[in-house]
Amino acid sequence: MQVNFDFSGQHVVVFGGTTGINFGIAHAFARQGASLTVVSRKPENVEAATTELRSYGGKVHGVSADVRDFDAVGRALQASVDRFGLIDTLVSGAAGNFLCEAKDMSSNGFKVVVDIDLVGSFHVLRQAHAHLKKPGASVINITAPQSFIPMRYQAHACAAKAGVDQLTRVLALEWGGEGIRINSISPGPIDGTEGFRKLMAPAPSERERARNAVPLKRFGSLDDVANLALFLASPFAGYISGALIPCDGGGAMESVKPALESAGDEATASAAKA
Ligand code: HXC
Ligand code: NAP
Repeated sequence: MQVNFDFSGQHVVVFGGTTGINFGIAHAFARQGASLTVVSRKPENVEAATTELRSYGGKVHGVSADVRDFDAVGRALQASVDRFGLIDTLVSGAAGNFLCEAKDMSSNGFKVVVDIDLVGSFHVLRQAHAHLKKPGASVINITAPQSFIPMRYQAHACAAKAGVDQLTRVLALEWGGEGIRINSISPGPIDGTEGFRKLMAPAPSERERARNAVPLKRFGSLDDVANLALFLASPFAGYISGALIPCDGGGAMESVKPALESAGDEATASAAKA
């Protein structure tokens, strides 16, 4: 699909932007002419992502940093702003996940997901505030259906992403006066991604069941989410702030939950056998 968004001359920063959904978002902004900064932990992911994004001919800066490290996030942002100037669009999407029943989850297992998804989001937004273009910046948090649909094996991610949503709303209140808009995208099951692989059972029958449970009868693509991010960053979304927008083929209406949970039953049962 061709959408005529032009982000040339704009600086877009994507945390967790080296793989999966967030990389799809970075890709879309690169195609639309933005100068891009992508940040994640693993240097090999940063290297691969920057190489691919540069093939569009734009300016790309890659930084290796862990969102759990407040100072490292600050340094990554300072370096990116030194290079490309104030930030027009900030995407915060770093996350971690695994399937585990709460009764079997260690304290550290719960904490690690909350630290990456929720505390990490706070670090990114808090450190970015000084560098956001005012007025005019758009901030996009990547949340998940788990933030408002409780799911078995997902106590850590449900708690963390619910927190991310409230962060979105509170900062929309606090930063709105400076002309900063802040919204959340909640992707549904996006095919081919790490999150999708982790949460879905390998059995083809389970995959089919989950697909059929989506009202639009298909899994999502990277472009489905990226197109929404382009829209939210554009002037067409100039009066939208504090919103949580599902991009999930209608799955937020809870019909997908039983299929995902039964996929989780399969995945945890095969993990227990291994
Ligand atoms: C039980 C587990 C576990 C598992 C890890 N832990 N995996 N417990 N079952 N499968 C526990 C460990 O035992 C340890 O606790 C604690 O978690 C920390 O584990 P580490 O491996 O030391 O953590 P770390 O190296 O920091 O890695 C973080 C991670 C990892 C979250 C565990 O999976 C990761 O880096 N993920 C990033 C990629 C990712 O998950 N992407 C998917 C995002 S999808 P103890 O007590 O032993 O010390 C998403 C939502 C999708 O967010 C929604 C779809 C609808
Ligand atoms: P993914 O490819 O694993 O993306 C996660 C990204 O975050 C990676 O680039 C990873 O790179 C980075 N990251 C992880 N921990 C980090 C840390 N501590 N510090 C800095 N960066 C870190 O998974 P995905 O499935 O595309 O998920 C992307 C986003 O979409 C997440 O916010 C997820 O919750 C959300 N989501 C996904 C789905 C889905 O269907 N996939 C559905 C709903 C919501 P490094 O390993 O290099 O750090």
